[in-house]
Amino acid sequence: MPRAASMRERASMYNANALKIGLFGANCSSGRSATKVPERWQARWPDCLRLARVADEAGIDFMLPIARWKGYGGDTDFHGTTLETITWAAGLLAATSRMTVFGTVHAPLFHPLIAAKALVTADHIGEGRLGVNLVVGWNEGEFEMFGVEQREHDARYDFAQEWLDVVTRAWSEPGDFDVQGRFLKLRKVRAFPKPYGGTRPLLMNAGSSAVGQDFALRNCDAFFTATAGSRTSLEGNARRVAEIKSNARALGRDIEVYTVGQVICRASQQEAEDYYHHAIIENADWGAIERMLALRNITPQNVAMDEYAAKRRYFAANAIGGYPFVGTPDKVARELADLCAAGLRGIAVSFVDFLGELPFFCDEVLPRLARLGTREQRSTVPRAAV
Ligand SMILES: Cc1cc2nc3c(=O)[nH]c(=O)nc-3n(C[C@H](O)[C@H](O)[C@H](O)COP(=O)(O)O)c2cc1C
Repeated sequence: MPRAASMRERASMYNANALKIGLFGANCSSGRSATKVPERWQARWPDCLRLARVADEAGIDFMLPIARWKGYGGDTDFHGTTLETITWAAGLLAATSRMTVFGTVHAPLFHPLIAAKALVTADHIGEGRLGVNLVVGWNEGEFEMFGVEQREHDARYDFAQEWLDVVTRAWSEPGDFDVQGRFLKLRKVRAFPKPYGGTRPLLMNAGSSAVGQDFALRNCDAFFTATAGSRTSLEGNARRVAEIKSNARALGRDIEVYTVGQVICRASQQEAEDYYHHAIIENADWGAIERMLALRNITPQNVAMDEYAAKRRYFAANAIGGYPFVGTPDKVARELADLCAAGLRGIAVSFVDFLGELPFFCDEVLPRLARLGTREQRSTVPRAAV
């Protein structure tokens, strides 16, 4: 029986969970933790496959990779080994049956018709479970290695608009069409098949600038904000979500707001905090962190030394993986439920060792979230099956 894949069903990720929970960055070595601990994530394909199967069985809603082409250096060469996200998503969609898997596309690096077809192929493999993260790029070194010049910031989104218009036309036009844009000139374009079920993959974007956010509001189903973790108050988060949704409504659109975070969940608070300190601070890969700061123009040369030290520590502790959810299952579940109460639709989380830590999270935190009313109650599935 083919699956019905209306936009509403795609947006709900085919389930009734009020708070969607996804895994972020598992296609990249070290995931979202710039740490030297030996158990850090290696992003090997067999591990990704196993992780996706465990997550799918346990009711995790989605996986969101990071499109990264070049590592950041340091002792671990943070993100030095990465699996390409659309092919990664296609493989995982073939191996799972419930979860949504995103592919992430750098608009300036992929021809839109190649991207449209690759994404449609993955969407058919997943029977309507593909999501797309459209990014414009920000890392100069990555563009340099492609021989592609970065446009000036706001023009990146002008290009992305034209690029996405071509992709969505390729996904929907019943016959041939021409494109006479500012950037793209294409003749007699023809693209079949269309996405699964006559709709289109979920679209997301995570631009942090005003222009990036406008792009998301105009075009996407989901907007990811790195700043609406629980680092601010429940009221602060609720205000931020309401503002984004109301800006979207002013454009006649409905958009879901997501965020990102890092989870270290252990049976006791002390154990969780000790491990957080051990992995994220004591064993931080400072070389990689300094390189990431330099890409944002934060160096000891242009920032006062005490301010630099504070930024360096903040970046390691809070920024790379997003807000750290560190504690017992009760504490982590309560903090996640607060995000739901603030109107957030979901969160993409990372773990230092995804496969080692996910089962405990799924066994202990997901049932608590169900009891707090933010997730469906699920019967336990024997893990031997995977
Ligand atoms: C959840 C999330 C996922 C992102 N994924 C990627 C990615 O895969 N590749 C990338 O180059 N940038 C990624 N970014 C960066 C954003 O796309 C964006 O470029 C950045 O937030 C800067 O915003 P701006 O383009 O509006 O200036 C991500 C950001 C967030 C918060």
